[in-house]
Amino acid sequence: MKVIQVKNAQEGGKQAFAILKEEMAKGITTLGLATGSTPETLYQEMVKSDLDFSDMTSVNLDEYVGLSGENPQSYRYFMNDRLFLHKPFKETFVPNGKANDLDAECIRYNQIIADHPIDLQVLGIGRNGHIGFNEPGTSFAVETHVVALTESTIEANKRYFESIEEVPTHALSMGIASILKSKQIILMAFGREKAAAVAKMIEGSVTEQLPASVLQTHKNVVVIIDEAAASELTNA
Ligand code: F6R
Repeated sequence: MKVIQVKNAQEGGKQAFAILKEEMAKGITTLGLATGSTPETLYQEMVKSDLDFSDMTSVNLDEYVGLSGENPQSYRYFMNDRLFLHKPFKETFVPNGKANDLDAECIRYNQIIADHPIDLQVLGIGRNGHIGFNEPGTSFAVETHVVALTESTIEANKRYFESIEEVPTHALSMGIASILKSKQIILMAFGREKAAAVAKMIEGSVTEQLPASVLQTHKNVVVIIDEAAASELTNA
């Protein structure tokens, strides 16, 4: 893992954008994208850039079960709002949270990933070390799956909803096996509340109890963290 320490999320977004730009100049075509607060500065850089994404494909990590793309809390809405409406892509994929048959939706999404191999995957990390919605204890072998969100994740996500009762309890998520197929991965983490997970991801053992630790086994990972998120690293 290559670790880049930056001052703050703004600088982190710029660093991630610089890597993306370089990779696009080399001809990559498919991005794996994340939602949440972490990639927002990267998306701001993309939006204000003069880069053209109209030949690019994106495949998002996850979506809440039960929310349609018109729901402002859905990840489809987030992506349209933050990125796609400003910078049109050739095609964009997000799991369908309203699918009647969730198992069939997982199979469909696995096929999408197989048909559009991800060149560069953008990740955030949860306070408990989750990536995508792969919570601690999820098998590393799993591909797209239906996930019951943990209390800690529901608690962390409630800031986006009017009340905790409105936070969905399930999500569709790419699995760890799907994420590991990406040719390159950029994981960003900003803020003190990510410090423990970041330290375990980089310096701890590889364990399904800390899903992001699996990234130690991938050969092309860049971790971009601010000072607060780096504060529990012993070798910083
Ligand atoms: C979002 C996702 C999640 C988030 C993580 C961190 O698509 O897959 O794993 O990256 O929960 O969320 P933020 O960035 O809001 O702290």
